[in-house]
Amino acid sequence: MTSTARSAAEFVPAGADLAALRSAACGCRGCDLYQGAIQTVFGEGSPDARVMMVGEQPGDQEDRKGHPFVGPAGRLLDKALAEANIDRGQVYVTNAVKHFKFTERGKRRIHQTPKRTEVLACLPWLEAELSRVKPDLVVCLGAVAAKALMGSSFKLTEHRGEVLLREDYRLIVTVHPSAVLRAPDRDAAYREFVDDLVSVREAMK
Ligand code: URA
Ligand code: SF4
Repeated sequence: MTSTARSAAEFVPAGADLAALRSAACGCRGCDLYQGAIQTVFGEGSPDARVMMVGEQPGDQEDRKGHPFVGPAGRLLDKALAEANIDRGQVYVTNAVKHFKFTERGKRRIHQTPKRTEVLACLPWLEAELSRVKPDLVVCLGAVAAKALMGSSFKLTEHRGEVLLREDYRLIVTVHPSAVLRAPDRDAAYREFVDDLVSVREAMK
């Protein structure tokens, strides 16, 4: 028996530029995550960016505002990028999954990690972004993004900070900024995160 997994593929318009991709993504029904979230949060940044940063999925604030990395994790990322001397104008920021997945606890919406099937369903959007932006360097923020691009057996801890060669770009994996916020020793975790971004800046040369 063959079963066709649902995916974003049928919603991705062939030959579309980034702006057209972004508007098409608003209507994506490639998995069930669109049902609970407020809106699709597509990637943002210069179409000529040399670096693409890939997070996991939008959080509560990103879902409300419609922009990636505008909540607490985004503020930490911005601060760390500045400290590593990376110009935000050279960075395109996106997520492996474009809709917020959560459970409700009272009035709060608590983040839930997307399932592998949801990450795979959403991958056509990330692939389309990669093929339009054509970054030299891709930075995976956390294991979900890393496994989306490197396969489910990829171990972030074994390759953190290394420059990995892919066919069309180089790739560096680091932790997710939310993991820095949750770390028991937040200052140390933050410094290690900035160190990884310094490796990113060096790889941009
Ligand atoms: N975490 C992510 O992975 N992406 C966002 O856009 C915000 C928080
Ligand atoms: Fe489409 Fe991705 Fe949203 Fe699922 S999470 S509905 S695949 S945009």
